[in-house]
Amino acid sequence: MSNILEVVGLRCSIAGQQVVEDVTFEVPATGITAVLGRNGVGKTSTLRGILGLIQRSGRVTLAGERIDGLPTHRIVQRGVGYVPEDREVFAKLSVAENLALAERQKNPRREFVANLFPDLVQRRDQQAGTLSGGQQQMVSVARALLNDNQILLVDEPTKGLAPKIVAEVTDALLEASKLVPILLVEQNLEVVRRLATGAIVIGGGRVIHTGPALSILDDPDLTRRLLGVHAESEATT
Ligand SMILES: Nc1ncnc2c1ncn2[C@@H]1O[C@H](COP(=O)(O)OP(=O)(O)OP(=O)(O)O)[C@@H](O)[C@H]1O
Ligand SMILES: [Mg+2]
Repeated sequence: MSNILEVVGLRCSIAGQQVVEDVTFEVPATGITAVLGRNGVGKTSTLRGILGLIQRSGRVTLAGERIDGLPTHRIVQRGVGYVPEDREVFAKLSVAENLALAERQKNPRREFVANLFPDLVQRRDQQAGTLSGGQQQMVSVARALLNDNQILLVDEPTKGLAPKIVAEVTDALLEASKLVPILLVEQNLEVVRRLATGAIVIGGGRVIHTGPALSILDDPDLTRRLLGVHAESEATT
């Protein structure tokens, strides 16, 4: 199977301090690939490094073309969608305005997004800052889905959400993954189990394991060793 994204020897630093040492992995062109690892190992920094949001070196290839020398806006134009850890909706703007601002192309997928998130259609005039955490997450995912991206980088979409909302966001990501491959940072291992085909585990600034997601989740010893948690119980911070 071909890869949509290849990362070789990625190093990232923030304010002069190295936060990702030497990360190498591949993301297949279909389905959801999970990025796992304990708190603070550099999962978010890896995504931000791919996007050029923090200082980075190494080789990043999107659909066969190097993107590691490009500024962030060019990387986004090439079709890398980002759903950041803290959602980053425009609090003062309405849901509709948040979505309109995200549209980059002539024919955005408005209908697909409306079908996926009927709640957002109903709340289109509500100020995004007054939405619940789960609803804000849906706005954030919806923004990335409006455009015809080559890959989505999604950072902890279920963090801090109630179980019912976790299930809704999970369903939406599964639906979205039929359109676009997703690189997903996720600590909730039940969500990983439902969504991910492959998994990449980061530890100490490097990739310490790659393989089918279930080969990790179904092996309690491996899960404990790699992630420091039990596969049966939800990973918490
Ligand atoms: N703005 C910053 N300034 C200094 N250090 C930072 C900054 N942001 C992150 N770091 C450090 O970089 C390292 C990697 O952080 P990162 O957020 O990438 O980890 P993470 O795996 O996403 O963690 P989490 O699971 O808690 O989301 C951590 O040691 C963190 O303290
Ligand atoms: Mg993080």
